[in-house]
Amino acid sequence: IGSRIVYFDTIGSTNDKGKELAANGAPEGLVIVAEEQTTGRGRLGRTWSSPKGRGIWMSVILRPEINPMDAPKLTLLTAVALARTFDSYPGIQPGIKWPNDVFIKGKKIAGVLTEMNAELERINYVVVGIGVNVNTSRAELPPEIENIATSLYIETGKSWSRKDFLTKLLEELEALYLSFKMGEYAAVVEEWKKYSVTLNKKIKVTSPGVALEGTAVDLDDDGALIVRTRDGSLKRVVAGEITFASR
Ligand code: BTN
Repeated sequence: IGSRIVYFDTIGSTNDKGKELAANGAPEGLVIVAEEQTTGRGRLGRTWSSPKGRGIWMSVILRPEINPMDAPKLTLLTAVALARTFDSYPGIQPGIKWPNDVFIKGKKIAGVLTEMNAELERINYVVVGIGVNVNTSRAELPPEIENIATSLYIETGKSWSRKDFLTKLLEELEALYLSFKMGEYAAVVEEWKKYSVTLNKKIKVTSPGVALEGTAVDLDDDGALIVRTRDGSLKRVVAGEITFASR
């Protein structure tokens, strides 16, 4: 992963470019990086602020031979790669909020947007988009996320090399992806749990068409969140968004 990197100064969205290149036969492991995105996208139709030179805005093309239903595993795996990378910075303690947001001290610092092209039982390609706020200052955060987002710069008071971060992230991603391909996914789930800030918390699920409140008790082998509701029953949540309920 990352032995070939395509670099853009300005782009709409690296995920859109990744999909375009993948549809035209780009190989697994190709990475698209941009200095700036003008229409960066987040999950659930949100926008992703991607100011010039301040973060890592990138997408990775993967072509795993797995069932499309197993694709969420790649997203969890990416969150673990991000957490490991942040963990290597002094004084930084990353947490993963289900399914794949990386948080530092309760504020979001990185996110993952996975998009795929698949047939019934076969994946054609997966584009894993990763956004990391590296050197964004507080003043550069859009007002609507000013209080809920952070960056390495905001947390440490220093600027960091985006190249070093990217190198470490690609190394971790590669290692995790290889073990995933060799069927060693259980260890990834365990590591995800180690970093999790979601388990054992009271949460609200706000996926489209789902209204659920309870305690997040576990992550199953497929990456689904297991929620115990007030009546004691266990519900499995495969996609969507959670908020932490106030006690
Ligand atoms: C989220 O947390 O909602 C996911 C954010 C993903 C942002 C990255 S930045 C690179 C790639 N290109 C995009 O348009 N989005 C992803």
